[in-house]
Amino acid sequence: MRARIIGTGSYLPEHCLTNGDLSKMVDTNDTWIQERTGIRERRITDQGTTSMAVEAAKAALEDAGKTASDLDLILVGTTTADYVFPSAACQVQAALGAEHAACFDISAACSGFIFALNTAQAYIASGMAQTILIIGAETLSKIVDWTDRSTCILFGDGAGAAVVQAEETGVLAADMGSDGARGMVLPCEGRPLRNSLVQNPGDGGYMHMDGQEVFKFAVRTVPESIQKTLDSAGIRPDQVKQYILHQANQRILASVRKHLKVPEEVFASNIARCGNTAAASVPILLDEVSRSGSLHSGDIIVLSGFGAGLTWGTTVLQW
Ligand code: ACO
Repeated sequence: MRARIIGTGSYLPEHCLTNGDLSKMVDTNDTWIQERTGIRERRITDQGTTSMAVEAAKAALEDAGKTASDLDLILVGTTTADYVFPSAACQVQAALGAEHAACFDISAACSGFIFALNTAQAYIASGMAQTILIIGAETLSKIVDWTDRSTCILFGDGAGAAVVQAEETGVLAADMGSDGARGMVLPCEGRPLRNSLVQNPGDGGYMHMDGQEVFKFAVRTVPESIQKTLDSAGIRPDQVKQYILHQANQRILASVRKHLKVPEEVFASNIARCGNTAAASVPILLDEVSRSGSLHSGDIIVLSGFGAGLTWGTTVLQW
């Protein structure tokens, strides 16, 4: 059996932070940000990650025509869960009342939703689960240093979700990879978990990024991963109805598209409005594309993500 997406949902916070707003906070300007990234504005919240995840999940369940009691697994891709434990997935379970579900988070940064979808496929193929809620949810605003212009212009908050079910068609091929040896090009130390009796807890917690290294990694690895996954599904790049990639930088999207030699209209993008929402970016965009009515049963879709770890992943699926 295969994991088939039967419903999607997303949630974006109301508060909009424009490039103009940012230029009053750090030494930057709208022209630089738009030319280098394609981003015009991003959504920022003071809510928690879980509450956004719950809103996206409710919309996905409604779209799928399922109730929380139908779920036997909940997977949340996130690096900004509100608590170290309980997991965001367990908190979503409690809020939804999904009493039959086993729940855990997946930490793969911007690849988190793809890793969750591919994990769901593995659970369904093995017969261990039938109906799974997968979510990508992030409050990157909590780990961004708002005085660092090289990172704070990129990120936004949001959540996206999908319900997948065991069916004859759905995920056709999947690829996942990691390169931990290069992980320090994009680290975030996180909460100071050191024993303060013996070590100075320090002031860690904000992300740091070697942007050019991440850029080079993305433009090389993502087209390779997509081509490899398409090859194993026996599908040509021009047979894909829609490519839905992690929204990190419009120039990365353009470079991947050129490698694949496909037209602009098959490469969806909402980066101008949302910025980089890490694990949430693929499911938010998928929900927007799905709700636009442009996807039809049987269409071939490619989802692909990449980010900290380093991690990357691709899923080729039939809608
Ligand atoms: N405003 C104005 N100038 C800036 C800004 C800014 N916000 N940020 C940097 N600059 C300056 C730099 O200081 C530098 O100035 P200099 O030439 O005088 O030294 C100049 O602009 C060029 O800086 P670069 O870093 O070379 O700019 P680049 O073209 O590489 O763009 C960017 C930077 C946008 C970060 C790009 O490298 C990128 O998008 N990288 C990929 C990031 C990514 O994809 N992350 C995804 C993973 S996120 C995750 O997993 C959590």
